[in-house]
Amino acid sequence: MDKAKRKAIIAGNWKMNKTPSEAKALLNEIVPLVADADCEVIACVPYVDLAAAIEATAGTNVKIGAENCHWAASGAFTGEISTGMLKEIGVEYVVLGHSERRQYFGETDETVNKRTKAALAGGLKPIVCVGELLWERECNITEEVIARQIKLDLWDVTEEELKNVVIAYEPVWAIGTGKTATADQAEEVCAFIRDQLAKLYNQEAADAVTIQYGGSMNDANADELLSKTNVDGGLIGGASLVAEKFAAIVKAASK
Ligand code: 13P
Repeated sequence: MDKAKRKAIIAGNWKMNKTPSEAKALLNEIVPLVADADCEVIACVPYVDLAAAIEATAGTNVKIGAENCHWAASGAFTGEISTGMLKEIGVEYVVLGHSERRQYFGETDETVNKRTKAALAGGLKPIVCVGELLWERECNITEEVIARQIKLDLWDVTEEELKNVVIAYEPVWAIGTGKTATADQAEEVCAFIRDQLAKLYNQEAADAVTIQYGGSMNDANADELLSKTNVDGGLIGGASLVAEKFAAIVKAASK
């Protein structure tokens, strides 16, 4: 397998942080620090920050993503945002199935799949998040959980569409806890995800998919995590809110 064939992607997931003016200020700091990155750089920001973020990154190598989207084109879905709305303002990526959406907002593999299909049909690139709970890891069913999520979340996604899908492996026990998966643990599951993709599609299609690790990834551990064969990038929470830390992770991915 040739890691060089895949695009390394470092994406910030800002979660529910930063107002539009704060978003603009943070991106103004980030943009010059990552200008010579040899990887894709994305900031996924709250809906109300998107317009300011797109303006602040216009003409730069930083792409902007949303943190969710609905599957319907329009209609009576109070509080939701469609892919068309995101696309029209210049959004390119969208985080889907984040464990916080699954834990706190009732997302299921079925709704993640609907959102993924809609994002692809609407011309957005989904970053589909999968990952096991601590309890599931302790019960030794990590692979079962991940296999199920991959199969269901990508149900009916074609091989052609898969080219625009990014997978993020985020063990739930490592998110916001300061408890990072070891590089070997991350590699083991990312390799397993690629095997599942090879089974569902074929090896060539699987080898081309960017698989990120997420969960307390920071400037101190990025080098080691990213050195692993199947870890092609990172989905960064806390450290993406500090320009220097985020830029250091981008630098680690650019080697
Ligand atoms: P932290 O980097 O804060 O652990 O968050 C990871 C994450 O959930 C990214 O989506």
